[in-house]
Amino acid sequence: MISLETLCQHVGEAQLRALVAAFYRRVKTDELIGSMYPPDDWEGSEKRLADFLVYRFGGPQTYLEERGHPRLRGRHMPFSIGLAERDQWLTLMGESMREIGITQEAAEVMIPFFAQVADMMRNRAE
Ligand code: HEM
Repeated sequence: MISLETLCQHVGEAQLRALVAAFYRRVKTDELIGSMYPPDDWEGSEKRLADFLVYRFGGPQTYLEERGHPRLRGRHMPFSIGLAERDQWLTLMGESMREIGITQEAAEVMIPFFAQVADMMRNRAE
């Protein structure tokens, strides 16, 4: 059984980075959440999320070294995130997982993690 901390080992760092690249290809043109991201730093956004996932899934800790403690809720406060934005993020990530061919076994660990973190990012009363 794969755990969160062994995901990087199972999926591979290159695959995780390919997943995030596929995700941002979608985010860039997304009508709901695309405009939240800094338009002149797509490479930076991609690196931050990829480094975070690699670290969180048990791989190298580059994210911690460069960004410190994630403080994800605080770092998402500048953006208005409600149910629709949460669901859209998860939809785009799900599509990216299928595009990259994340295995069923790995997806069973990743999907609940993404769902839990995305729900924690909601900061708009509805
Ligand atoms: C719920 C919907 C979400 C929205 C609308 C959203 C939106 C954003 C935006 C606009 C940024 C700024 C881009 C940047 O400068 O890096 C960002 C950063 C980030 N997001 Fe999200 N996000 C969501 C969920 C998530 C989830 C579920 C995760 C992790 C599983 C995540 C992880 C990150 C990370 C690691 C960063 C960079 C933090 C930093 O070091 O500055 N986000 N997000």
